[in-house]
Amino acid sequence: MSLQWGGRFSAPPDAELLAFGSSLEEDLVLAPFDLTCSRAHVAALRGGEIISQADADALNDALSVVAGEIVSGEFARFARGTPFEDIHGAIDARIREIAPGSGDLLHAGRSRNDQVATTLLLYVRHCARDGAAISRAIAGDIVAKARAELAAGTLVAGITHWQPAQPILLAFWLEAVGEMFARAARRFDVVVTDSSVACPLGSGAIAGSSLPLDRAAAARALGFKAPSCNAMDAIGTRDLALDVAHAYVRAVVDASRVSEELVLWCTPAFGYARLSDEASTGSSLMPQKRNPDPFELVRSQGAALNGAYAGALGTLCGLALSYHRDLQTTKALCMSVIVKGNATMRAFGRALSNVTFDRERMTERAGDGFTVATDLADALIAVGTTARDAHAQVGEQVAAAEREGRDLPLGARAAVDEKKTAGSTSPGEVARALDALEAELEAAARTMPDGAS
Ligand code: ARG
Repeated sequence: MSLQWGGRFSAPPDAELLAFGSSLEEDLVLAPFDLTCSRAHVAALRGGEIISQADADALNDALSVVAGEIVSGEFARFARGTPFEDIHGAIDARIREIAPGSGDLLHAGRSRNDQVATTLLLYVRHCARDGAAISRAIAGDIVAKARAELAAGTLVAGITHWQPAQPILLAFWLEAVGEMFARAARRFDVVVTDSSVACPLGSGAIAGSSLPLDRAAAARALGFKAPSCNAMDAIGTRDLALDVAHAYVRAVVDASRVSEELVLWCTPAFGYARLSDEASTGSSLMPQKRNPDPFELVRSQGAALNGAYAGALGTLCGLALSYHRDLQTTKALCMSVIVKGNATMRAFGRALSNVTFDRERMTERAGDGFTVATDLADALIAVGTTARDAHAQVGEQVAAAEREGRDLPLGARAAVDEKKTAGSTSPGEVARALDALEAELEAAARTMPDGAS
């Protein structure tokens, strides 16, 4: 099977270097997006009257055949048996097999440079939509959990520096997690919108095409606002692949932080949370063990994906404008972050839904470590004591209580109920925050950002 070039070469490619240059395996996931892109290119060719209607029909029929082969797995087997460095070459070859003659017209006015850029953008948009949906699903589940804990009045000792800080509602902690994932979803939304603006298809290798391609028709068909404005920029940027990878890294870093707390909460020493049997793992040696592995693995992925993302961004340092083969490495790294980030978030959501809380134990311990001290000082300030004096007086009370082994004269629940500021842990404010978060999630479900997925 011949490569997509050859006329000017007098020797076949070196097999080992060809294999080294292959991104075929990681590209397989891009196959359906290439077909969508190729269909739009057929429209651009036909719109510019570069090919006949009969050829356009034959090409579209062949693309449909390949679509079926992708679903059945037959295409992956075919592609792996070809010498092509990427999925785009393999699809082109299969089209030429299925539609002899017409197939040779598909690549007119097209380079793999604009083909890769466009295919990748379609994939990016799809993955950003998915990331937003997963983030909102997590936030939605968290809202439901928080409402249940709010109704139950569960308290917990809020920590800073991992030291007891102030009593909070467990619903407040959960709502904070909901805020994190609502923000994550908004970051994905931005990528969906940005990847629906400028369509690279028709940019050719660097400078555009001398053929009268109907770029506007292609852009419309692919859900972009318009054709891109600068061919060289369009084929040379990987900004949005990096942006969606970044959105995944950020979401996973958030999941990693939440996981850390849950891992500790699941220890017997804390005994605040329990991960169900289905989600926990045992030890091959220690019969008593029940380990919260999913949260430990999610915790580790924050760092792992951060490293892969840094690698992707690093490949662009010092890279001149336009296409360079380095961009294949950028693409592969971004895709690995996306795929792993997506799986991590799904696992995180699943593990979260397997967590239950020991309400009594958490509530009972919410005042441990003199967590109401700040509220006692606030009470003094409210009746005219200066902040400095109030701090000193309550500090002395804490020292005395610690010596004498007793608690401070304020209950943890009263401290929570007394909170007055917007966004505080008071039950009223937590209920309000949950309502606002739920309204945001519902509005997002009604109005997804523009652009075909
Ligand atoms: N396989 C390459 C990539 O994924 C696309 C080929 C680009 N063009 C080229 N002249 N090698 O980035």
